[in-house]
Amino acid sequence: MTSVARLTEQSTAGANDGRWRTIIEPFRIHSVEPIRTTTRAEREKHLTAAGLNLFAVRAEHVLIDLLTDSGTGAMSSNQWAGVQRGDESYAGSPSFYRFRDAVRNLFPFEHVIPTHQGRAAEKLLFGVLGGPGKAIPNNSHFDTTRANVEFSGAEAVDLLIPEGRMPSSEHPFKGSMDLAALEAFIAQRGAENVPCVMLTVTNNSGGGQPVSLENMRGVRAICDRHGVPLFLDAARFAENAWFIKQREPGYADRGITDIVREMASLADGMTMSAKKDGLANIGGWLACDDDALAEACRTLLILTEGFPTYGGLAGRDLEAIAQGVEEVVDEAYLRYRIRSTAYLGDALHDAGIPVVRPTGGHAVFVDARALLPHIPPLAYPGQALAVALFLEGGIRGCEIGTVMFGRRPDGSEAPAAMDLLRLAIPRRTYTQSHIDYVIEVVQAVAEGAGKLRGLRIVEEPPRLRHFTARFAPL
Ligand SMILES: Cc1ncc(COP(=O)(O)O)c(C=O)c1O
Repeated sequence: MTSVARLTEQSTAGANDGRWRTIIEPFRIHSVEPIRTTTRAEREKHLTAAGLNLFAVRAEHVLIDLLTDSGTGAMSSNQWAGVQRGDESYAGSPSFYRFRDAVRNLFPFEHVIPTHQGRAAEKLLFGVLGGPGKAIPNNSHFDTTRANVEFSGAEAVDLLIPEGRMPSSEHPFKGSMDLAALEAFIAQRGAENVPCVMLTVTNNSGGGQPVSLENMRGVRAICDRHGVPLFLDAARFAENAWFIKQREPGYADRGITDIVREMASLADGMTMSAKKDGLANIGGWLACDDDALAEACRTLLILTEGFPTYGGLAGRDLEAIAQGVEEVVDEAYLRYRIRSTAYLGDALHDAGIPVVRPTGGHAVFVDARALLPHIPPLAYPGQALAVALFLEGGIRGCEIGTVMFGRRPDGSEAPAAMDLLRLAIPRRTYTQSHIDYVIEVVQAVAEGAGKLRGLRIVEEPPRLRHFTARFAPL
């Protein structure tokens, strides 16, 4: 049975008809997938075979999979109906036009270019705008964004506000860009060397924290002053809009669709991973108003993704995304989504476990550097914690720290700004009892934190090392 009794809010505002504190899942379960428990000895064997890298563990050996919220959500019956309706014509499929119109309803950009996922949109954008001598500022680049910028020869620069790097700060918009730093950066590098500014909403690498509209307007004004276009990395646009509605003065009575359109109106374009707030299992897009940029991106698209009316997707995927972006702006969904993530974050915080505050939209980030102060950043406390959680309870999280970000393009290694363990919550997938189990296991691991040991890397590729590196205990 789905246990929902404690997904409550302190305030009754907006809950159901306003009378009840319990926030229920705004759906019932239509189809289920079994999950299986393993023994500790089995998990030890799986970890050893995987070189202590959870990306190399087979999914069927994971009990609760919080590795990512990307593409792991449950689709609705209407999305599955869309899958049936998918038209697989090579060119001009009606599924493309449904997809394009659903995107434009929220993000009214002239050009909407489907891609197989977000990183493909990044590859197109930076393939055209990037290159040696260029620099792309962002609040925080996600790993694939950084990798695509750097692969083009350009420099990826993070200009997050200082509060965004303080795990315990309760700032309501910790994903915001440091406006003074952005202004100084463009002035120093010269606008001709900054082909675009990116804003990641919400800011995944910094704890799933939102960016306020006020901050976006500030970024826009700087971009206008310097004649630099602004692009959103909009993977979690609806979660960001929900936080704006909840936290930004003047937005409480505004609809989510309206808020998203206001976000879009401040940008010149966007990259999107539909695997997050597209509520789909695959897909993405690049959108912009600039005809020449779109043309150049479409030329690359045809080389690597496919014809411009399907990108790297099947018609059925385009249908799932078209329906998904309609569902994701539903307030009942967003209230449940954000509250159920906060339920895990609050429980860990109340148990004295250091977590990034306030809880972000899609994940709870445990501050591994604070929980394991005896493990220095270059001995990867986030990875050590991830391994311990899997060993203890079959829960798979993801290190977001020095393993992910510590290797510089020149080959040197430096501690990341934070060492976090991300527990990402797949959309509409796990129930409250699954999360209660996670809380219990994390508490048990935290109680024995002093006994955990750091790790060293024994094998790693030149880029995106967190996916394939192998580790050994120190
Ligand atoms: C903020 C952000 N941008 C871009 C991406 C890349 O998207 P995809 O995984 O669809 O390639 C991700 C994926 O996790 C993300 O979180």
